[in-house]
Amino acid sequence: MTTVYLNGRFLAPDQALVPVSDRGFLFGDGVYEVIPVYGARLFRLDEHLARLAQSLAGIRLADPHTPGEWRRILEDLIERNGSGDRSVYLQVTRGPAPKRDHAFPAVVTPTVFASVSPIAPPPADLAERGVAAITREDIRWKYCHIKAITLLGNVLLRQEAVEAGCAEAILVRDGEATEGAASNLFLVRDDVLLTPPKGPFLLPGITRDLILELARDHGIPAREAPVPASWLACAQELWITSSTREILPVTRLDGAPVGTGRPGPVWARMHALFQDFKARQRAAG
Ligand code: PDD
Repeated sequence: MTTVYLNGRFLAPDQALVPVSDRGFLFGDGVYEVIPVYGARLFRLDEHLARLAQSLAGIRLADPHTPGEWRRILEDLIERNGSGDRSVYLQVTRGPAPKRDHAFPAVVTPTVFASVSPIAPPPADLAERGVAAITREDIRWKYCHIKAITLLGNVLLRQEAVEAGCAEAILVRDGEATEGAASNLFLVRDDVLLTPPKGPFLLPGITRDLILELARDHGIPAREAPVPASWLACAQELWITSSTREILPVTRLDGAPVGTGRPGPVWARMHALFQDFKARQRAAG
């Protein structure tokens, strides 16, 4: 039996009810985070909470909790939900309003929700085969750095990928690759690891930052630089990264092989560094 958190209470999921006047329901007016839990430890919690604060500031909604309060709520929630590797989903909306009006209500009572889900293990043949992706035009809005619950663009793009038998849609805006529908993007070109720089057209991924940190610490040449879409097809390696999928090597893009068509050596090295980093976090817990 799982337990969820809603507005100060720990409840069974079917007891956790949000009014239909909630602006999250009516307008997608809210932001969220997805935080992995390895062992009993929230992975990179400070970084996730800093990004949550940025997202809330981006939609002009006051952070309902201090970092210490968030930690206590989320640690309590994971303790109530068994053990093992999981992920925490949390969302904050602008709450219920007396009438449906696009502009903010005079009095805002945010809705705070959090739940815990299992993390699906990576495909067993990942290191052998990698995953397939498609490229699509980035049809989303211009505030992609905000982790908004308004995800219709991402939803439609990911669905196209799934219907094409692919793991992800890699997005292109004005001739440059930005990120995946729910992941960041890396490629290896001229033996250098590249990822598009932060800005309004992509989410500042926590996994992305960790990969850059690991690259720096272990002497893997890496750069943040714009990625022309034409570089995707001729990349030595292509990866997509996120909190729930870690680092997935993309070995087929739009039906054609990427590099050798197999996960590459830079991916294998970074995957090992990432697993090692996780194991150390787990042990420290
Ligand atoms: N999404 N870009 C987008 C558009 C994303 O939705 C995500 C993650 C990322 C990767 O960010 P991070 O490394 O911090 O997980 C990049 C989460 C997992 C989701 O929506 O479920």
